[in-house]
Amino acid sequence: MNILRRKLKVGITYNLKKDFTHQEDQPIDSFEEFDSEETIDAIRDVLESDGHEVFKLGGGVGLIDRLRTSPVDIVFNIAEGIGGRNRESHIPALLEFLNIPYTGSDPLTLALTLDKSMAKKVVQSEAIPTPGFKKVERIEDLHSLNLRYPLFVKLCYEGSSKGVRLDSKVSDPNTLRGKVRWLLETYGTPVLVEEFVSGPEFTVGILGNEDPVVLGVMQIEIKGSSQDEAIYSLEVKREWEEKVRYHCPPAIPDDLLKRIEDVARRAYRALDCRDVSRVDIRVGGDGAPYFLEVNPLPGLSPVYGDLPIMARRMGWEYSQLIRTIFNHALKRYGLVE
Ligand SMILES: Nc1ncnc2c1ncn2[C@@H]1O[C@H](COP(=O)(O)OP(=O)(O)O)[C@@H](O)[C@H]1O
Ligand SMILES: [Mg+2]
Repeated sequence: MNILRRKLKVGITYNLKKDFTHQEDQPIDSFEEFDSEETIDAIRDVLESDGHEVFKLGGGVGLIDRLRTSPVDIVFNIAEGIGGRNRESHIPALLEFLNIPYTGSDPLTLALTLDKSMAKKVVQSEAIPTPGFKKVERIEDLHSLNLRYPLFVKLCYEGSSKGVRLDSKVSDPNTLRGKVRWLLETYGTPVLVEEFVSGPEFTVGILGNEDPVVLGVMQIEIKGSSQDEAIYSLEVKREWEEKVRYHCPPAIPDDLLKRIEDVARRAYRALDCRDVSRVDIRVGGDGAPYFLEVNPLPGLSPVYGDLPIMARRMGWEYSQLIRTIFNHALKRYGLVE
């Protein structure tokens, strides 16, 4: 890829955890997906070291006036958005409306992938294996459940393991009902009931557009849990340093690695991801890799983000990861020389 010589005005859009105040009646993980200032500064430092002028734009409504009065050449977008299943699309849609280029996937892909049930329908239509599922909006929806136990219960459109706990795997209808009721009442958003996939778990980093490339495959081992009980839950993600062992590249047979990469790449294409994504996959009892979800806005914390951890294990500097995402976007918009 050609090196960009022109200095650009680059905005960064994001939502910060510290901008929200936790209310007593809110779930403990309400702001789990939002970022820390250190992550934004780390991205800014990389872009500035390449000579760009960087503006931390945030993700509140003030952004609209800010973009109209002093536009930027391109936005590095990591904003998760504030509410609803289209929240990740809000800022990219605004940027499209204002004709401002931005990194990453477009509003359609961001909304489609945030709603796990919708993403799974698209993936299934391309014959990519994904566990059987049902979207549950009210408890009565469980009457017509045609799935094989054990099941897994999670929120339909959340990330960062919001709503996923160590007891999210359920083995009987009573426990299922209790768990679904708790999620519906606590979070007030639809629930996804899925067949439990009991084998090892992997996350796959993908970069690029016409010919997306696998950056790495990282196995997630939860310390002290047998493989078929392991859940990359909220509790585990919050205490990743003590509870998780990452293997990247993983010590698995070559043909399994290829199958995992293939599922991830096919899902990336099926969902029209752009520039970067991380695909979560779990291997079933039949030895086949199953698509769980794709994250087109993967966490980019240089300390605890799965993608930066994976990049580091694959011998990449953090700056190289950020630069590569940025360059893929520049190339799409014809902004490279
Ligand atoms: N169907 C499933 N079978 C087994 N484990 C699952 C299943 N769905 C989710 N999990 C576990 O829960 C974790 C979080 O689920 P995921 O779908 O990746 O949601 P999130 O968007 O919160 O990361 C996964 O990393 C995995 O450990
Ligand atoms: Mg996940």
